[in-house]
Amino acid sequence: MRRAKITIIGAGNVGATCAHWAAAKELGDIVLLDIVEGMPQGKGLDLRQAGPVERFDSNIIGTNSYSDTKDSDIVIITSGIARKPGMSRDDLMSTNMKIVRSVSEEAARQSPNAVYIIVSNPLDAMVQTCWKATGLPTKQIVGQAGVLDTARYRAFLAMELGCSVEDIVAVLMGGHGDDMVPLPRYTSVAGIPVTELIPKDRLDAIVKRTRDGGAEIVGLLKTGSAYYAPAAATVQMAEAIIKDKKRILPCAAYCKSEYGVGGYFVGVPCVLGKDGVEKVIELKLDADERKLFDASVTHVKELVAWVEKNWA
Ligand code: NAI
Ligand code: 2OP
Repeated sequence: MRRAKITIIGAGNVGATCAHWAAAKELGDIVLLDIVEGMPQGKGLDLRQAGPVERFDSNIIGTNSYSDTKDSDIVIITSGIARKPGMSRDDLMSTNMKIVRSVSEEAARQSPNAVYIIVSNPLDAMVQTCWKATGLPTKQIVGQAGVLDTARYRAFLAMELGCSVEDIVAVLMGGHGDDMVPLPRYTSVAGIPVTELIPKDRLDAIVKRTRDGGAEIVGLLKTGSAYYAPAAATVQMAEAIIKDKKRILPCAAYCKSEYGVGGYFVGVPCVLGKDGVEKVIELKLDADERKLFDASVTHVKELVAWVEKNWA
């Protein structure tokens, strides 16, 4: 049986850590591509040499050449610059749009049937950039943000309750971080609504900490942004697609009629399987949630307008 081929573009903190998680899970063979010469080759070789210890047989190569990425099943895009303290994700826009545009074009020439998982920030705009650059069917393009934001929320809830993260089931919608739409109504702890276990003021504080989760880590690291949890979240999406698991995960997916969005990639729960985004799930939102979601969509539209204006 042919193993899945996973290309990861950008072999920096997030990209290399994606390779690490994907190899540890034996999801397939891995191609790690970066613009810097030698660095992806070195990381690829180093990771491959961990195989005998960790008992994985994935072939892992590092490269600077897109020909090595040919016929990938999954392409993960992490290339671009990351935030430093004081920067917002939107401050990365101009540089990362050029990078994501060019790497998407190159990758799509080699792997027109792959599912593309975008990670580079500002996430919602970079997903649109990849779509515009490749013209691929929208189900083949999906952004990672919601799985990370939800993981942060679940981790904070488990810390508050002193329980296992495995028992926290939650979904968040909307844009990445600052724009996310918390849904405590749809959060449960082993089936018990979270609102029965945590008072509103504590829950509000946890939602705020989740919203600011990326900035909290940037403030601590000072030289870059988070990568362990972002990479774990990205590889969970890749696993759902490679294994055709039909997982329901919050992702930046194309919504035309869904939620009345009208043709943008926004954070919504969707079914991920072998074809990529196989379905967007429409939740009933109450008035407050709808207001937050609409604000989030408005911000996505502003970012996309910027992409359109600066494309040429
Ligand atoms: P990093 O700086 O460690 O790695 C980025 C890599 O991209 C570098 O190795 C760089 O050489 C490479 N690169 C730049 N231009 C390239 C090109 N044209 N072709 C190939 N490679 C190129 O940054 P890190 O921490 O890995 O973050 C990467 C991106 O992911 C950032 O934009 C960051 O904001 C974003 N991010 C998004 C998250 C999300 O949840 N969506 C979470 C964490 C980071
Ligand atoms: C994060 O949320 C920087 O988007 C990245 O950690």
